[in-house]
Amino acid sequence: MAGPKSSSEGIRGNDVMDKIVSLCKRRGFIYQSSEIYGGINGFWDYGPLGAELKRNIKELWWNDMIRQRDDVVGLEATIIMHPQIWKASGHVDTFMDMMVECPLTNRRFRADQVEPQSGTVYHFKGAVEAAAALKNLREISNKDRLDARTRDRLDSDEAEVLKLLQSSGIPPNKWDDVLQDLTRTFPETDCRSRGVGIGEISVLVRAGEHASTAWKRATEFYRKQGLHIPFLEQPIIEQVKDSTAFNPENGVKLSAPRPFNLMFKTYVGPVDVPPLHRYTFEDPQQSEEWFERFNESQKNVAYLRPETAQAIFAQFKNVLETSRQKVPFGIAQVGKAFRNEVTPRNYTFRSREFEQMELEYFIKPDEAIEAISGRVAGSSELDPQPSTLNLQPTWGWEAWHKYWVEERIRFYESVGLPRTTLVEYWQKPAELAHYAKACVDILYKFPFSKRDEKGELMGEELEGIAARGDFDLSQHQRFSGKPMIVFDEELKAAWPKLDPAKQTELKERYYQSRFKYLKKEGEALERADAEPLVREIKLAQAEKLARADAEAFTKGYYVPHVIEPSAGVDRLALALICNAYAEDQAPDEKGKMESRVVMRFHPRIAPIKVAVFPLLKNRPELVKKAREVRDLLRPHMNVFYDDAGAIGRRYRRQDEAGTPFGVTIDFDTLGEKRPELQDTVTLRDRDTMKQERVKIGDLLPLLREKTR
Ligand code: GAP
Repeated sequence: MAGPKSSSEGIRGNDVMDKIVSLCKRRGFIYQSSEIYGGINGFWDYGPLGAELKRNIKELWWNDMIRQRDDVVGLEATIIMHPQIWKASGHVDTFMDMMVECPLTNRRFRADQVEPQSGTVYHFKGAVEAAAALKNLREISNKDRLDARTRDRLDSDEAEVLKLLQSSGIPPNKWDDVLQDLTRTFPETDCRSRGVGIGEISVLVRAGEHASTAWKRATEFYRKQGLHIPFLEQPIIEQVKDSTAFNPENGVKLSAPRPFNLMFKTYVGPVDVPPLHRYTFEDPQQSEEWFERFNESQKNVAYLRPETAQAIFAQFKNVLETSRQKVPFGIAQVGKAFRNEVTPRNYTFRSREFEQMELEYFIKPDEAIEAISGRVAGSSELDPQPSTLNLQPTWGWEAWHKYWVEERIRFYESVGLPRTTLVEYWQKPAELAHYAKACVDILYKFPFSKRDEKGELMGEELEGIAARGDFDLSQHQRFSGKPMIVFDEELKAAWPKLDPAKQTELKERYYQSRFKYLKKEGEALERADAEPLVREIKLAQAEKLARADAEAFTKGYYVPHVIEPSAGVDRLALALICNAYAEDQAPDEKGKMESRVVMRFHPRIAPIKVAVFPLLKNRPELVKKAREVRDLLRPHMNVFYDDAGAIGRRYRRQDEAGTPFGVTIDFDTLGEKRPELQDTVTLRDRDTMKQERVKIGDLLPLLREKTR
């Protein structure tokens, strides 16, 4: 039998994405949410195969991050939390995207995602209603006294307006009606001048496009503003290069960027409800007022969480006290997150509702490591393949950070993404959040990723692994007033044994790092131009608090630092789907080669592990045996039973579903012709399409081994 011949590599990005999207719909991986109502942008549903795939992803992650380790525990927190959490985390004030809008289509874009464009820009200052323009032009009584150039311009304007009116299909005797119509519709405006100053619009015309596009777009724009037949003022023309100010879809100049908070707001519970009997609710206005005043008051505003991480920080103390863990240790969570993305795009890649798998791994500050171990091991001292077996007490934040990067890449490899499809991107200092010491993004080379100058796919983010210092716990300590410090027995014991010079050095370093964080509030006031005295008081307070923290440090207390590997379930599902998609040749019933679509999922992640087929569905002995085999395997793995259609077609359906193994029960299984083959089945491998004869008794251990 022929082996696989080609994979998705080599098929162009957009083409392959179209094929993947269509397969996902056809086979029940992913559907558009609310499709029967036209869909809702940025929301996706997972069908039977997609739901299994996502479940496998989450289970493997949970198993890898929690169950296989002694130092990580799980959490499942609520989606809606106290709004102060989002104040402390910075999301209320800074979780914004700069957004721009196209005045013609009202489509919104993230300002940083607009492609740079070059070409000729036509700036239109405004437009007038053509009928009004004609009237004005005809009423100019002193044309003879004007200079020749102006006269020519007025004549050409008149010809232009006439042309517009004639091509409008409105008969000349009705042109005046248009004006009257306008006066009726906009009684407050003088229809003769209506249009001038309605709004400026600029349109970029790229090389190869016709200049008339600019007039077409501007006319559409003024029509949208209410003009029947807009007559455009002569535009000012300018050349631009690599400008991000224009809509890439139609060349229209975008609005100025405005901040847009990405959190979804909601309202919790009826607060301050007035006596209900005062409201009859028969009057719609009254019921609306009631709703607005008492359901949507600012008092009960809450947010759908934009990340799962904050719940981990908020529950840090509870988990620490109830789990018997000691720093270093981690808390992990999987769950929904919501972001009102300005431009959801690339299929499920940027959605408005998605799932995250996040770990907050709490570590000792480097000063504590040095006090306890005498030195801090950097990332260069890491084993090439670090594992839970060789975690070292000397590791500082850099080593832990690198360790988690390696761990996460190893995880991606274990679910079937080869290292060659991944990119380890170290954020540059200017790209880092102000509190982050380092951040590595793990990118997957999606078919829709941009390409570099060499034509290589650059990849898009699957996961970010950030070294966040003690920022998060410190923020919650500050906002909640509850201490987030831990007591470290080892540090307390080590401290008196240090020589005094070392003690002074470490204490000073710890003081400096706390002061750096604590003085931020004062610095923010400085930026906000607050009274110098208020600033000074804040800075003095910061210094005092930092001194107290440094003193507590010498007694074994500190705010733990954190390394955060944060991954998206949906992005990984999409990466696995893209990676699995392949086309090759396979023989049909008669041995003739035909093209086949096959999803080459790693068996560990495949939605269905094995399909069981009776060769013929109208032979009760075959069906009975096949059902026995299905029932034997079913308690241990996801099994699909299929008796409909020719066996070749059944194989093909499972190839598209990505099922790695197919078991066929045939007449040999019954021992009809060859008794020595009784109670054996054929086991077909999806990728090689090879078939081997296996005893039913050996099937379960074999398949368990192969899908582990
Ligand atoms: N707690 C850190 C955090 O949330 P992030 O980089 O904003 O960091 C982490 O998000 C991961 O969540 C991303 O790497 C991505 O996999 C996933 N993610 C973020 N926004 C997403 C979106 N709009 N749609 C799908 N996945 C998203």
